[in-house]
Amino acid sequence: MTTVLAATNLCKQFRMGESVVQALDHVSLTVARGEFVAIMGASGSGKSTLLHLIGGLDFPSSGSVVVEGEDITRLGDRQRTLFRRHRLGIIFQSFNLLPALTAVENVALPLMVDGANSRETFPRAEKLLHDVDLGHRLNHRPQAMSGGEQQRVAVARALLNDPAVVLADEPTGNLDSDHAETIWRLLRRLVDDEQRTVVAVTHEPVGARYADRIVVLKDGRIVGEITESGGLDAALVAARYAELVG
Ligand SMILES: Nc1ncnc2c1ncn2[C@@H]1O[C@H](COP(=O)(O)OP(=O)(O)OP(=O)(O)O)[C@@H](O)[C@H]1O
Ligand SMILES: [Mg+2]
Repeated sequence: MTTVLAATNLCKQFRMGESVVQALDHVSLTVARGEFVAIMGASGSGKSTLLHLIGGLDFPSSGSVVVEGEDITRLGDRQRTLFRRHRLGIIFQSFNLLPALTAVENVALPLMVDGANSRETFPRAEKLLHDVDLGHRLNHRPQAMSGGEQQRVAVARALLNDPAVVLADEPTGNLDSDHAETIWRLLRRLVDDEQRTVVAVTHEPVGARYADRIVVLKDGRIVGEITESGGLDAALVAARYAELVG
């Protein structure tokens, strides 16, 4: 087993005027190559905060994050940006699409800013859009797409650089169940066929069951894990989750 991601004793406090929010409280998490981990927890439990720290988008108040042997909390801004761009695929809770660009341009953008050849990049971007069922929306701009379509563009964009590690924050939050399943199966395939590593935040047991293991957060702490040697199913996930957070 190769460890791809090790978060150790992560704490994150947000200061709001006089008060302090303890968003994460000594969270440790190790993820192996070829592992699919889901993170579940109530709204405000710290899921996005954890994902942001793992992705080097924010700094912990204390603790460390090592991704593929690199302590990303010690990298400078520029190095961290490059690390993200080359090694990680991040699907944000808000999609962050550029309004002036079409779907295929939005997907291709991360490689284009790196000086990639558009003759190679655009066909890849189009293939990824087909994979998320958007082959018929290649030239639509975000305002001409539904929320769920925009979300799927964001998923395709995160996969363009062949990331070793995919971080996803509610990647199916705006999707109907059929399209949600398309995304979960796509993420599962990345793990099974290509030995990539996926960490995905979700509140849906039907999505979380695609993971090998589910880490449950409550009030900024890990309160338990859900795993089952024979594979997870949605009812089991829902029941164990209720026990852990109840
Ligand atoms: N920039 C910030 N400044 C102050 N407080 C913050 C900030 N970001 C998050 N918080 C607080 O930290 C806690 C955890 O937030 P976080 O976004 O990680 O929750 P979450 O589990 O992702 O919730 P949701 O399911 O609603 O997305 C919340 O109480 C939130 O209000
Ligand atoms: Mg969140």
